[in-house]
Parts: sequence; C-alpha cells; structure tokens
Amino acid sequence: MKFFIDTANLDQIREANELGVLDGVTTNPSLMAKEGIKGVVNQRKHYLQICEIVHGDVSAEVISTDFGEMVKEGEELASLHSNIVVKVPCIEDGIKAIKYFSERGIRTNCTLVFSVGQALLAAKAGATYVSPFVGRLDDIASDGIELVRKIVEMYTYYEYETQVLAASIRNTQHIIQCVEAGADVATCPLAAIKGLLKHPLTDSGLATFLADYKRVNG
Ligand code: E4P
Repeated sequence: MKFFIDTANLDQIREANELGVLDGVTTNPSLMAKEGIKGVVNQRKHYLQICEIVHGDVSAEVISTDFGEMVKEGEELASLHSNIVVKVPCIEDGIKAIKYFSERGIRTNCTLVFSVGQALLAAKAGATYVSPFVGRLDDIASDGIELVRKIVEMYTYYEYETQVLAASIRNTQHIIQCVEAGADVATCPLAAIKGLLKHPLTDSGLATFLADYKRVNG
C-alpha cells in the first residue's frame, strides 16, 4: 500500500519524506488555507515547492465547479509539474471534467466520495484515484472503512484501473484498517503515520538490549 501525507505543511512533508516511505501528498483548499497560502500565484508556488520535496504524486484541487472552468484550472495545475494530479470534486461537472482529463492523459483524483455509486462514476470517467472519505463517514456514525472495502471489491470485480485512495484518515488504526480493506493508497496526517512505529515491546526490548550492552561493555 502506498502512503501519501495529507497536508500542505512543508515541514511535515519534509519530515515524512525523510522517513523514506512517502509516496505522495494530498492537499485541499482547507489544508492550503490552514498554511495561510493566499492567491493563485502563491498557491502554485506552494505546489511546486511540494513537488520539489517529494518525488511522487501531488494532488492539487480545483476550486471551480463549472466544467469549462475546471478544465482551464486543471490544465494549468497539471502543466505546473509532471507529478501534479488534478483533484476534482465528485459532482456532475467534475465527472465530465475527469473524463475530459483522462482522454488527454491528465491524471485525476476524484474527491469527496461517500458512496459506491460515486466511485463507480469516477472509475468509468477514468479517474486515476478515487478518494473515499473515511473519517467524515465515521463522524456521522456511518462506516468509512466499509465503504473503502466495497469500492476495492467493485473495482477488482470489474477490473477498473482507478486506485482507491483512502482519505480523511484520522488515526493509526484507520491505516491498519485500510490495509485490511485492500486500499491502494492511504493519505494520512503525519502523526497517524508515525503511530505505526509505536509498540511498547519495541521500546522495552530496545531498552534491555542497550542496558545489556552497557553492562558488559561499560
Ligand atoms: C484528502 O484528499 C482529503 O481532502 C482529506 O483527507 C480530508 O480530510 P478531513 O476529512 O480530515 O478534512
């Protein structure tokens, strides 16, 4: 399974990249706003900075909701760097735009996906990635991981090439559940990725090894 980091924060992206296991980055307008990045010029500079840090796919989301505008914005984003994946919301004009982009070799991430039906349309339109939002479904007492599992099953059965990118991951347990559900990618906060490392037996085992070494070697 591939790991993307779900942030626009350059320090966190660098830290995750230095672990050596990072495959890409996802951003969205809220994450960009959180970093205080204002205006088209600054946003595009920021995407380029991310692409310089990570050698993997970087999702950059369109703001437009109209087909013509999405196409214009998406083409501009895609021309910034070969690793940019155009992130498009799962709405009617978004599906048309994904079809347009896929026919022209522009890679896409269909975002804000909350149902198998939406994932079916995204795959049929030729999306590179589909992003089911796990945490936001869990927030409303629905089952986000179950949606990931159903989309994986549907894509496997019909042999769609669209990759399932589990998004809105809130914790380390979500990552483990995504592995079990067969997600192709999980995009996660840095803390959730680092949480995978934690085990009390690793800590106590290492403490014993180091104490034993010190006892004999001084
Ligand atoms: C990434 O592609 C999504 O935009 C992101 O994971 C949404 O996460 P949130 O539900 O925690 O805002």
